[in-house]
Amino acid sequence: MQALAPLVALLLHFALFRLASAVGNVPPKLYGVNLEWLDMGGQSCSDCSTCIADEWSFAKAYPDTVDATFDKHWSTWFTEDHVQQLKADGINAVRIPLGYWIVEPLVNRSSEYYPRGGIKQLQRGLQQLQDAGMVAILDHHALPGVQTAGQQFTGHCTQDVEFYTPYNYHRALVWTAVMTALTHLDPAFNSVFAIEAVNEPIMNADQTPGYGQFQVNFVQTIRAVELILGIPVPGVSLDVSLGTSNTSAAFIQVATSTSLPSIFNQNVTAALLEAAPILLEMAAELAIPTILDFTSTQAPLFSSRTPLMTNFMDVNWQYNDPPNPAYAAIGPQGYDNHLYYNYGGVADPNPDAYMTSICNLQRVQNDAAVGDTPLWFGEWGLPTQFDATDEFLYMWADAQKMAYTKGAGWLFWNFHVEISELAGNLSRQWSYLDGVNYGFLTKDPAAYHNASVCDPYYYNTTSSS
Ligand SMILES: *[C@@H]1O[C@H](CO)[C@@H](O)[C@H](O)[C@H]1NC(C)=O
Ligand SMILES: *[C@@H]1O[C@H](CO)[C@@H](O)[C@H](O)[C@H]1NC(C)=O
Ligand SMILES: *[C@@H]1O[C@H](CO)[C@@H](O)[C@H](O)[C@H]1NC(C)=O
Ligand SMILES: *[C@@H]1O[C@H](CO)[C@@H](O)[C@H](O)[C@H]1NC(C)=O
Ligand SMILES: *[C@@H]1O[C@H](CO)[C@@H](O)[C@H](O)[C@H]1NC(C)=O
Ligand SMILES: *[C@@H]1O[C@H](CO)[C@@H](O)[C@H](O)[C@H]1NC(C)=O
Repeated sequence: MQALAPLVALLLHFALFRLASAVGNVPPKLYGVNLEWLDMGGQSCSDCSTCIADEWSFAKAYPDTVDATFDKHWSTWFTEDHVQQLKADGINAVRIPLGYWIVEPLVNRSSEYYPRGGIKQLQRGLQQLQDAGMVAILDHHALPGVQTAGQQFTGHCTQDVEFYTPYNYHRALVWTAVMTALTHLDPAFNSVFAIEAVNEPIMNADQTPGYGQFQVNFVQTIRAVELILGIPVPGVSLDVSLGTSNTSAAFIQVATSTSLPSIFNQNVTAALLEAAPILLEMAAELAIPTILDFTSTQAPLFSSRTPLMTNFMDVNWQYNDPPNPAYAAIGPQGYDNHLYYNYGGVADPNPDAYMTSICNLQRVQNDAAVGDTPLWFGEWGLPTQFDATDEFLYMWADAQKMAYTKGAGWLFWNFHVEISELAGNLSRQWSYLDGVNYGFLTKDPAAYHNASVCDPYYYNTTSSS
């Protein structure tokens, strides 16, 4: 399954990503739990719900110091040095995992515990990445109410999963409206080209009621914000003449208007109304003047901007008759799949089985057959269930990159990991930068040590796996 490694948590996933048509240019945010987590007073344990292994329990345990601790963590975990190393290694895209709590007014502080201050770190990192010419995906990685049980990556390791409810779907749409507006209004966000709706929802679609309607609402919310800003959206127009250039006021005016295109359904207008005051608050914190006057000469030329790419985990991420996000698309949309072999369930735990599996991977074709294209692999790494030799890791890196570039490319999890006694040699298989240093990953991400590495493993039939 796609659990996180016990000691590795979220951070930036970095990747090579082949863009057919690049949209913007870069920036990230760091938010992390990781091995470095342990340096912050966190703990590691086999059942992550029983110790301080996520943001929630850390914030609850250290309410007075959590914000400062995270600020220091974010500042040191991702630096200009890292940006330059990634650039030198040919990385052209980043996927930035974000918690819903980065939009701070969405957090119910009487019952939910998360660090504050992430948005300014995101703005800072996005600017650095943009300056280095990289593009970024904003990944809604940890959803309000928690989208899957027993996982640190949700920010709260718990069995109490409540994302799939009207209240939390609504909060996720507010998050979406705010992040879409910031992306278009804040020049620091210029290289963001996609927003991902939900990282790794529960695989059993029987347990994700309403997720199909949420997919539709997610796309419509992004397009609604874009139409309000004057960004052309394929196939839809907004015939409301705005009596204001104040973005927040425009949200309210449109949301309460009576003649709207059908994409402005009641869930979308409810999200716009709640996002309006939040935008004002965040604009002040981020010093983005264009929220108050998006028609000013300081503002980007909205009519020449392109809509963001909406991004979902692919339909084949789920089973039991899942909703296909392809049906929600309005304008550009991309799909994400994650593949880890080390948690089991993919191939027998030996080098030959791994190579046979990856060299014959059919995920790109299978997704394309149901409209989920372009597909990229937003998470993968070199970890194995067996002790891998250096010789195997050269092959393993080549073969995976080859499989994933049959689609739109890949993003490695993670860009680096903590170096400590406790971490051991974790970075050998989990860190992109170390993988390049050790030579497993080629310095040019588009290259291979051996482009024929899969030849002995191909099935010479048309059967698929
Ligand atoms: C916040 O959480 C408390 C405790 O669970 C609950 O009573 C309250 O209704 C929540 N507030 C909102 C706005 O949902
Ligand atoms: C709004 O959301 C609720 C629950 O998430 C859903 O039941 C309803 O169908 C949605 N309405 C529209 C118009 O999308
Ligand atoms: C912008 O609109 C919001 C929402 O109506 C309002 O609260 C705010 O005061 C307005 N700002 C300016 C500068 O007009
Ligand atoms: C970590 O892995 C690298 C690459 O295989 C190896 O050169 C190094 O000696 C290992 N370090 C430790 C501490 O095992
Ligand atoms: C590349 O891999 C193929 C298949 O295993 C092998 O036959 C060939 O010798 C390798 N080439 C090099 C230069 O190692
Ligand atoms: C499949 O075909 C390739 C190229 O003709 C060959 O090198 C390889 O040995 C064959 N693999 C298998 C598993 O039969």
